[in-house]
Amino acid sequence: MRVSFNVNGEDVTADNVWPGESLLYVLRERLGLPGSKNACEQGECGSCTVYFDGVTACSCMIAAGQAEGREVRTVEGLAEEPGKGGDRTLSTVQEAFVEAGAVQCGFCTPGLLVQTDDLIERTVGAGRAAPDDSEIREALAGNLCRCTGYEKIIDAVHLAAERRAAAGSTS
Ligand code: FES
Ligand code: FES
Repeated sequence: MRVSFNVNGEDVTADNVWPGESLLYVLRERLGLPGSKNACEQGECGSCTVYFDGVTACSCMIAAGQAEGREVRTVEGLAEEPGKGGDRTLSTVQEAFVEAGAVQCGFCTPGLLVQTDDLIERTVGAGRAAPDDSEIREALAGNLCRCTGYEKIIDAVHLAAERRAAAGSTS
C-alpha cells in the first residue's frame, strides 16, 4: 500500500508498504530517517519516540497505515533550520544533552530528546515553572537507558529548561 504523511514539515510518500509495518520501520528503512532507534519493538523502551500529531508516541507501536495524513516529527526535526548554506544546528535540548554528558552509547538518546523537548515545551515553553526532579523522572519514565544511570540526563533536562526559559524571555 501507499502511505502519505508529513515528516518534519515535509510531505512524504512511501510505496509498497506492507500492512504489518510500523511507522518506525517506514521512517528508518523507507524514508532515510534513522534517528529514531529500534531497540525493543514492543513499546517498552522509548528509543523510537516521535511526535505523532503533536503528541509523543512510540513509533514502533504505530502501524504505518495509521500515519496516513498525519504529522510526524522525529529527532531529526528537533534541530534548528540551517543558516545560509549551513547544516542544521542543534536545538537547546540537544545541546544540553551534549554539554551535560548525558550521552554514552546514544541508543536511548533520540527518544529522550523528543520526550524532553515535549516536557520543556509543556512547562517553561508554556510559561510555567521549570520541571523539578520528580516531574522529570515521571516524564521520562518510559525511556530506558542502559548506560548513564540517569543522573546526567536529569542534569541535561534542568540545563535545557534553564536555557529555554532564558530564550523565552528574549523572544
Ligand atoms: S523500540 Fe519502540 S519502544 Fe522500544
Ligand atoms: S546512553 Fe546507552 S542506552 Fe542510554
